[in-house]
Amino acid sequence: MLPLPSSTSKRNRTYFPSLPANHNHNLSSSQQILQTLRSRTRLTNLAVFLLLFCLSGSLILNLNYLLIPSSNTFSSTSSSRFRNGKVHSKGWDDLATLSQLRSGIPLSIETTIERDSRYNDLDHLIMVPGHAIWLGHDASKVNENDDWILEPMQKGGSVRTYVKHIQRGVEELKKDNKALLVFSGGATRVPPSPPLPEALSYHNLAHALDLLPSTLIPAEQGESKAPLSLNLRAATEEHALDSYENLLFSIARFKEVTDRYPRRITVVGYGMKERRFTNLHRSALSFPLSNFTYIGINDDLPDLSKHYAGELKFGFKPFMNSPTGCHPPLSTKKLLRNPYIKYHPYHISNPQLTELFEWCPPLQDHKEFDSLDDYRDVYGTSFSGRLPWNSDGSVADDEQVMWDRERD
Ligand SMILES: *[C@@H]1O[C@H](CO)[C@@H](O)[C@H](O)[C@H]1NC(C)=O
Repeated sequence: MLPLPSSTSKRNRTYFPSLPANHNHNLSSSQQILQTLRSRTRLTNLAVFLLLFCLSGSLILNLNYLLIPSSNTFSSTSSSRFRNGKVHSKGWDDLATLSQLRSGIPLSIETTIERDSRYNDLDHLIMVPGHAIWLGHDASKVNENDDWILEPMQKGGSVRTYVKHIQRGVEELKKDNKALLVFSGGATRVPPSPPLPEALSYHNLAHALDLLPSTLIPAEQGESKAPLSLNLRAATEEHALDSYENLLFSIARFKEVTDRYPRRITVVGYGMKERRFTNLHRSALSFPLSNFTYIGINDDLPDLSKHYAGELKFGFKPFMNSPTGCHPPLSTKKLLRNPYIKYHPYHISNPQLTELFEWCPPLQDHKEFDSLDDYRDVYGTSFSGRLPWNSDGSVADDEQVMWDRERD
């Protein structure tokens, strides 16, 4: 006959037989527990329990590590750092505030930034898209083509229109203490143009024209805070390579400056591009139509029909078919507009917009009309993911209608 397994034959045998077995009644309670744990089957249970404990701990840590970088929640935070309300120091953490730790932005950058609290009160983005680069220093010659880097077709007096866009942008800024003016446009011109962003050149021009007089930041005095002066509410967005990026990146830039997203947007640009911005770019970003204003100023010419025909063919229609400009011919144009190989920083500063930045809906083929006016009530495809300015993820009614129509 086979011997019985040891665990059944000697139920209470201890693994370390230093203590006498079967004398439990003589032992103190702690010794009893030890005794119980040391019995062979218990010891196996204890070992299994400890192994499982370590395993699950490691699993949780790994999941945490894996999930947090790819998380698209608006405050992607490593909650493990805040256990028991304590911050576990990792160097940069010493300098960081709680909201910086939670921002999902690298601390080596976040800890260099301190905003006056008044920036957080701004809620209105006024964007002036750049069209060319002003090289000058002398504002009295601003209307002369030589002071600008221009395409051949821009040499017929367009620079006067660019100056009007800048002036109107500043006028709108004066009307609203809660507005931030953003000049937008990258270093889009090939050498011999310098690697100077259009936006920076517009900002220089605004200063040269004395539109944004330099003042120091007014002191914060308790409750009644003086509003930020004009020059402190004028920023540059120096990376956009086309009009869609003008709008998208200036929203991201607004977030950098104010630590929030705008509730209202005003764009000051060419009149013929109104449909493109309002019906396509705004719609693509799912920004509510009721909170969006476009101020159009055209070249001072008797006949603008060529401008409108060109806009329809080379601007509106391509963006209608590819709302984010990720297909030719728009993507090809962008290739030519980044001669200085600049990388924009908005993935880092706006991690909550990552999906939107990478959004590339398939090329569409729309029914074509002959005139821009025929597109008055036609809206382009909207991004359907979650966005900070539409945090419930739903899109406004007018966009929903179009979205449904496009699915047909
Ligand atoms: C649109 O503007 C209204 C009024 O200013 C505001 O209450 C609302 O939050 C804005 N909508 C968005 C999505 O910002």
